[in-house]
Amino acid sequence: MIGYGFMGRAHSNAYKRVNDFFDLEYRPVLQAICARDEAKAKQFADNWGYASVETDWRKLIERKDIDAVDICVPNNLHHDIAIAAAKAGKMILCEKPLSMNTAEGQEMVDAVEKAGVANTVWYNYRRVPAVTLAKQLIDEGRLGRIFHYRANFLQDWTISADLPQGGAGLWRIDVKAAGSGVTGDLLAHCIDTALWLNGPITSVTAMTETFIKERKHTESGKVEPVGIDDACAFLCRFANGSLAIFESTRYARGHKALYTFEINGADASIAWDLHDLHRLNYFDHRDDSIVRGWRSIHVTDGDMPYMGHWWVPGLQIGYEHSFVHQVADFLQNLAAKRPTSPTFRQALETQKVCDAVLASAKSGQWVNVK
Ligand SMILES: NC(=O)c1ccc[n+]([C@@H]2O[C@H](COP(=O)([O-])OP(=O)(O)OC[C@H]3O[C@@H](n4cnc5c(N)ncnc54)[C@H](O)[C@@H]3O)[C@@H](O)[C@H]2O)c1
Repeated sequence: MIGYGFMGRAHSNAYKRVNDFFDLEYRPVLQAICARDEAKAKQFADNWGYASVETDWRKLIERKDIDAVDICVPNNLHHDIAIAAAKAGKMILCEKPLSMNTAEGQEMVDAVEKAGVANTVWYNYRRVPAVTLAKQLIDEGRLGRIFHYRANFLQDWTISADLPQGGAGLWRIDVKAAGSGVTGDLLAHCIDTALWLNGPITSVTAMTETFIKERKHTESGKVEPVGIDDACAFLCRFANGSLAIFESTRYARGHKALYTFEINGADASIAWDLHDLHRLNYFDHRDDSIVRGWRSIHVTDGDMPYMGHWWVPGLQIGYEHSFVHQVADFLQNLAAKRPTSPTFRQALETQKVCDAVLASAKSGQWVNVK
């Protein structure tokens, strides 16, 4: 594993828990943690049970005792690490967004496919049971023809103009490390879910804003221009004829991580909210009118996605379990020699939509997704 921050912890927890709850042919071995600060990396290794420490990711990749590399570092490092890991024949689990842009992402796809190594990108919301159930309901045709898709991802943590950019914890505000702002960080999640649930996006029109134009850079100590989008809203068309509206910002006072989506079909609608992630809201117009209404499905029964592996009906699970599910699927698919979605190639589709969104915001024109 490279990087021991937020995702380093979420993934380590998943690797440790997965065999306790899923019957799998393979068991992850936490062989090495890589980070630049040796003392902190050692502390992390002791805490989470990693057998060794590396401070240079290139050395980690050279090691013969490593079969899989997990990329949990800022976005500007994904490309070089993934390409080196693929060349070394390692399996790769890469955090999202896949890359800084489509061109980089395409090189990563080419590298893993040329090397023939197993690969996946951690768009973990696909594996929240309520979201997986939404996919099942849509694939069963319960919604009928889909007219609308609506998604939000709202936060409020960058409103203060005193917040610096760059460095540990604040690399997301530094365009050189993040590639973009809310588009690649938050909307990428909404787009991945949308492509999975509702198919390809064909064209977009977007607006972005950078509310705080300059911030002190943690590394240089100087006030520097802010290059990321603080907020982004876009309209788009899907190949299935449906229309969509997406919004993301880090300036929605009062919201910490409000990821919501709603899909309206001719026969039924579904809605989901990360703050209540084990529930799926469902409205079916085919119900008798006297009992028709939005129902809140508590996704905890054993026949619902992933839930048979956990507790008893009525008892819910949480955010961290989506990562456990991704590891379980990855290991199961490895044994069955199947790809694990989203693969690098599938995650590249999200990158293409992000690029189209940023290009449209710049030009003020509708942009076709290539
Ligand atoms: N799937 C999700 O829901 C989700 C959530 C958060 C973050 N992410 C993604 O995960 C990645 C990491 O984000 P995070 O929130 O864990 O960040 P973080 O800041 O918490 O952790 C980043 C880690 O990378 C390490 N690092 C930085 N440069 C390094 C280098 N050259 N060599 C080795 N280690 C280095 C840092 O020391 C730190 O441990 C990003 O790509 C982000 O977009 C995904």
